[in-house]
Amino acid sequence: MVDLPGITRVPVHGQPDDIYEQISAIIMEYIRPEESIILNVLAATVDFPTCESIRMSRRVDKTGLRTLAVVTKADKAPEGLLDKVMADDVNIGLGYVCVRNRIGDESYDEARKKEAKLFETHPLLSKIDKYIVGIPVLAQKLVQIQASIIAKCLPEIVRKINDKLSANISELNSMPQNLTSVPEAVSALMQIIGSSVESLRKVLLRGEFEEYPDDKHMHCTARLAEMLNQCAQELQKSLEDNYKDNFLMEEIRVLEETRGIGLPNFLPRAAFLIILQEKVNEISGAPVEFISKVWEHIETVVVAVLMRHSERYPQLESSTRRAAQHLIAKKKDMSVDRVEEIIEMEKIIDYTCDPEYLTVWGKLMASKNLFLDVMNNYSRSTLITIDGFGEVEVGHLKPFPSIRDQAFDIKMRITAYWKIALKRLVDCVALHILFSVKNLVNKDMETEIVNELMDPHGGGLERLLEESPSVAIRRERLNKSIKLLKDSKEVVARVMDRIAINTD
Ligand SMILES: *[C@@H]1O[C@H](CO)[C@@H](O)[C@H](O)[C@H]1NC(C)=O
Ligand SMILES: *[C@@H]1O[C@H](CO)[C@@H](O)[C@H](O)[C@H]1NC(C)=O
Ligand SMILES: *[C@@H]1O[C@H](CO)[C@@H](O)[C@H](O)[C@H]1NC(C)=O
Ligand SMILES: *[C@@H]1O[C@H](CO)[C@@H](O)[C@H](O)[C@H]1NC(C)=O
Repeated sequence: MVDLPGITRVPVHGQPDDIYEQISAIIMEYIRPEESIILNVLAATVDFPTCESIRMSRRVDKTGLRTLAVVTKADKAPEGLLDKVMADDVNIGLGYVCVRNRIGDESYDEARKKEAKLFETHPLLSKIDKYIVGIPVLAQKLVQIQASIIAKCLPEIVRKINDKLSANISELNSMPQNLTSVPEAVSALMQIIGSSVESLRKVLLRGEFEEYPDDKHMHCTARLAEMLNQCAQELQKSLEDNYKDNFLMEEIRVLEETRGIGLPNFLPRAAFLIILQEKVNEISGAPVEFISKVWEHIETVVVAVLMRHSERYPQLESSTRRAAQHLIAKKKDMSVDRVEEIIEMEKIIDYTCDPEYLTVWGKLMASKNLFLDVMNNYSRSTLITIDGFGEVEVGHLKPFPSIRDQAFDIKMRITAYWKIALKRLVDCVALHILFSVKNLVNKDMETEIVNELMDPHGGGLERLLEESPSVAIRRERLNKSIKLLKDSKEVVARVMDRIAINTD
């Protein structure tokens, strides 16, 4: 209940000049909200339609639905009061109550007695209906109005209580379980591992992403394919010939260094291997980098999945995380070793059973006669088109009559072989990574995590049985909240029942 100031028109005793504006602003602020009830206090001595306070309440409550009029000083102007109240010229929806206020230092009880007597015995005032006179009637009316407002709000309150209650209950249900025995702990652990492995199977092997629909990082099979493509592209770059401007010069350099004392028309195998090694060295960084990137990605994915599944057991988080990181580091080292071995193999062994090698080599060698012609006939242009290389300038090879023939041959062999070697390299690395990931998910994961958690130095299973204090406090708080909300619900239900009975 807010007692608002009376409306003053003329400033007195140093009041500010805009006293009227200030007061009416305060009043309007309080009477504007739809929920407030306007208790308009009018003196019986004034003419209601000229009243400033009526004018104001009419502005925010035209039909008077939430306005109640209290007519004071009934004893001062009894004449015509009945008519004024009955005529209701000013639309007071909640009705009028006529009262006689306390005068001087009357006690409350004295004042009520005098008021009751006044409305019983006064020749004019006694004609007014008993239901609209006296302070007790006003008090009762206010209580009724308030009760009906509350009744209107109750359904909303009940809804809010129910919302909070169900939120609290589901929060409590999703809290970490309090494990009380070793068998319970073991079964919780097995459940975490089982569900994590299943999730990992989906994201790492099967490419099913319903658990992480929007998290692109977790769409692992696609990301791995992207990384492999990128690696393959990197390797393909080495197919482009770097020595276009000085065709065969690199081969001539190597041939000159590997030359021994012997017949000139034997192609030295050592020269071929050296050129192959140089080519492999050039690309050897890319596969290792690819393998490291893949394992880094897998590590974040594995840790994220494990954390999600062990959410309810915060005491497990650090050890599962450690187990995962440990395992992936081991896998990564093994992979790097394996890939380095694959690269090493390509470097020192030249073999393929792929018939493509001979086919491509044969096509490339078809240009050899043209090449030799140009070399031997001084009147021909030295810009020639060679299969697989396009237009090349060969004029600079004239000073190397004995060796350029072999250089051409070696170049064509390496070119035919390199294509096959690269394909094989990418295939091997891809097979290896797929195989490793599959093993990780299907075999190693479970063993590694169980070993890590059962490790007696790390506290072993007993650690699972400890509940962290923060969790215990949260559980306690939720428990209290739920009890409080349930009690409130009962109280509100009782209030609603009472209101229903009283308003019937
Ligand atoms: C959780 O379990 C421990 C060990 O049995 C017990 O001491 C503790 O009171 C339990 N906490 C709650 C909140 O139930
Ligand atoms: C050299 O090339 C020219 C022009 O292509 C040709 O006319 C000539 O017969 C060639 N000489 C020999 C010896 O092949
Ligand atoms: C929750 O509170 C109730 C009593 O209100 C008690 O019986 C119960 O054990 C409490 N549960 C927990 C987990 O604290
Ligand atoms: C649980 O209820 C309390 C009110 O008792 C509320 O403040 C709290 O936000 C609720 N918690 C949840 C998780 O909804």
